[in-house]
Amino acid sequence: MPKFYLSTPIYYINDVPHIGHAYTTIVADVLARYHRLKGAEVFFLTGTDENSQKNFEAARVADERDLKKYLDKMSAKWQSTWDLLGISNDDFIRTTEKRHLDAVKKFWLKVQKNGDIYQGTYEGFYCVGCEAFVTETDLVDSNCAIHKKPAKKIKEKNYFFRLTNYRDALIKHIADNPDFIQPIKRRNEIINYIKDFMTDVSISRQNFVCGIPVPNHRQQAIYVWFDALINYLTAIDYGAKTIKGKVLFKKLWPADLQLIGKDILKFHAALWPAMLMSADLPLPQTIFAHGYFTINGDKMSKSLGNVVDPVELAKIYSNDAIRWFLLSEIKFGEDGDFSLVRLKDGYNNKLANELGNLVHRVLSMTEKYCDNKVPKFSAAAEGLDPLCEIDIWRDFESAMDHFRFDEALGVIWKVVATANQLIDKEKPWDLAKNDNTRGRLNDLMYNLLETLRQLGWLLLPIMPETAEKIWTQLGLSIEKEKAKAMDKAKIWGGLRAEIKIIKGEPIFPKIV
Ligand code: MSP
Repeated sequence: MPKFYLSTPIYYINDVPHIGHAYTTIVADVLARYHRLKGAEVFFLTGTDENSQKNFEAARVADERDLKKYLDKMSAKWQSTWDLLGISNDDFIRTTEKRHLDAVKKFWLKVQKNGDIYQGTYEGFYCVGCEAFVTETDLVDSNCAIHKKPAKKIKEKNYFFRLTNYRDALIKHIADNPDFIQPIKRRNEIINYIKDFMTDVSISRQNFVCGIPVPNHRQQAIYVWFDALINYLTAIDYGAKTIKGKVLFKKLWPADLQLIGKDILKFHAALWPAMLMSADLPLPQTIFAHGYFTINGDKMSKSLGNVVDPVELAKIYSNDAIRWFLLSEIKFGEDGDFSLVRLKDGYNNKLANELGNLVHRVLSMTEKYCDNKVPKFSAAAEGLDPLCEIDIWRDFESAMDHFRFDEALGVIWKVVATANQLIDKEKPWDLAKNDNTRGRLNDLMYNLLETLRQLGWLLLPIMPETAEKIWTQLGLSIEKEKAKAMDKAKIWGGLRAEIKIIKGEPIFPKIV
């Protein structure tokens, strides 16, 4: 069985998740479900980045004196948000866990042994918002250009990582492996950075209140990014002390896909691979950096009061509607805009009127004209060709395999539109009036019902709750249907005749 290890970034917990964080996590979930469908053994990781100054300061603002208590509370909030959104992660890593401390220590010692860590003095700026050492070119009037807050000038003795040792090896790896950094514009961006701007980086902070201590030098804490990146190894037992404990690591590393936002490209596409090279570990197959989106044209920020809570939104529209909207609206990899007006219009037009209505009308007609049962199918009659045929599946899988989720949804909606048109053209209500056309009516209805079953399969990774609702209304057992291998399930004709359908409420009730 092939394996598929994918991860999201681990999130800072100085605040609760917003729709931007949910975007990365939802896309990862879609891919995890898709690869499970294809039969891979999937390991889907997400979690929280806890050893950061940002979190420490947020705890103080929240008047929480006990940092651990604050971190526990906030991390639980993130985990429960993903639960509410139906995210199917296989593990949830916290960087304050013992397993992570062990992994970081082991990693540090290995890199140190390989000669890539040295002591020096860092003099320059640090932006707590970015949790990064920044240069004067990143500042506008002494403020961080992103966070609009003054960057702190610091001068301290700390440890450095010989990132520049890996300049040539990184360039070569990126050139030899076109799928390594995606999309192309991010690959070009990172090549420019590695060639022209990359320097050695400071990887510890002096006298620090939070952070993992540098092995054998407790006055220094490991820089939060050096610590955080290692989470991808920790979760699969890199730090385990026994051979038995390393089974997962052997099986799963290197990761197949690491999803990130474009804001953290440098850390993941330059520092991280160099760290891995230094620790004699293979590099992930693909690092995909998606774009950022604005809300109704504005940057999402607390001060603008436009931060969108994904759970509140899902309460109104459903988890699947949010998933559908994010994936159809924003080309994966590009920047985009999130608009509540477009969400509502899209929901009512595409989900309620097109998909929802198709399901409801097909089941209503089955109730009315076919005695509530799936009719027998005689033979493919002229003009009633299977609607989900090889081409549909091929186009769908090709879109999914290339992260083109909007196109994958386009394929699904092509099936929905064709089915709706077929009903309008064939007019089953007329066919039902005449005994001579009974056979054609049965063929038509079978065709439409089998299309719904297959739509369930096409929808399963992207809109899993909808897929299950469709199957339930078709009278199928969700468990039995899911247990089929995808290759078998997509063969036309899998719906058995005579099963009783269980028509329910419209799956996407209109929202006014
Ligand atoms: N803790 C680091 C990551 C360490 S990974 C080893 C971090 N955390 S974060 O909480 O700031 O989350 C960053 C991620 O959230 C981004 O990379 C991106 O994936 C996602 N997004 C945050 N805001 C977003 C938007 N407005 N739009 C799209 N994605 C957004 O950086």
